[in-house]
Amino acid sequence: MKQLLLISLSALLVSCGGGDKQATDTASPAKVADGTQQEVKQSWQSEHDKAALIEQAKLAVQALGGTLKGELQSAMKSGGPVNAMDVCNTKAPEIAKSVSADKNMAVSRVSLQNRNPVMGKANDWQDTVLNEFETRKASGEKPDTLAYANIVKTSDGHEEFRFMKAIPTGSLCLTCHGSELKPEVSAKLNELYPDDKATGFKEGDLRGAFVVVKQLAE
Ligand code: HEC
Repeated sequence: MKQLLLISLSALLVSCGGGDKQATDTASPAKVADGTQQEVKQSWQSEHDKAALIEQAKLAVQALGGTLKGELQSAMKSGGPVNAMDVCNTKAPEIAKSVSADKNMAVSRVSLQNRNPVMGKANDWQDTVLNEFETRKASGEKPDTLAYANIVKTSDGHEEFRFMKAIPTGSLCLTCHGSELKPEVSAKLNELYPDDKATGFKEGDLRGAFVVVKQLAE
């Protein structure tokens, strides 16, 4: 029943959300055990569709990651991390929205230790996959190769395509997600995100994941 899909991801250049390495990914097989959803029986056709959907999802992730990276870098250059924080705060959600509309798939970022209290918070199945990523990393898989893809039937009868791609923590990320933050960075974080859980990361930790969701036919 278990099938591994080999996904080759080209370079993901990311920022307020993303790693920056070339990766060959192994999508984990369908494993969403929450009772309300079940795996869709996989005919040759749906496997075929799934491969195409994964390709689209990878492009959507690249678009979001690349745009965020560009915005973050230019904001850091022009006004340092506090300025860049404002950019992440206001632009990251906007960029995710516009990439989603453009690619006709909902693209977002989630984390087990989220900063954005609404958009950054994983729902049940995303939480399961993030925990799976942690387990796979602990057993030796490289953080930048962790991905997941599946098609499930939701409780309201829709088929839903789900894709996740892990986001490793790079050294640049530590400015705003590490353990030793500059006082002005901490102050800005307290102001914008009083319930921030996204600090204390080390290089190589899983910072979170990109999520791509697309509703398929009823
Ligand atoms: C200038 C500060 C800054 C830097 C540098 C930074 N981030 Fe963030 N990050 C933020 C802010 C602010 C948010 C919340 C954005 C929002 O409200 O949507 C955030 C949100 C995120 C999220 C979304 C999930 C959540 O916790 O809400 C991920 C994933 C993430 N960052 C990963 C990274 C990675 C990986 C790097 C390094 C490549 C990085 N960030 C660098 C400030 C930063």
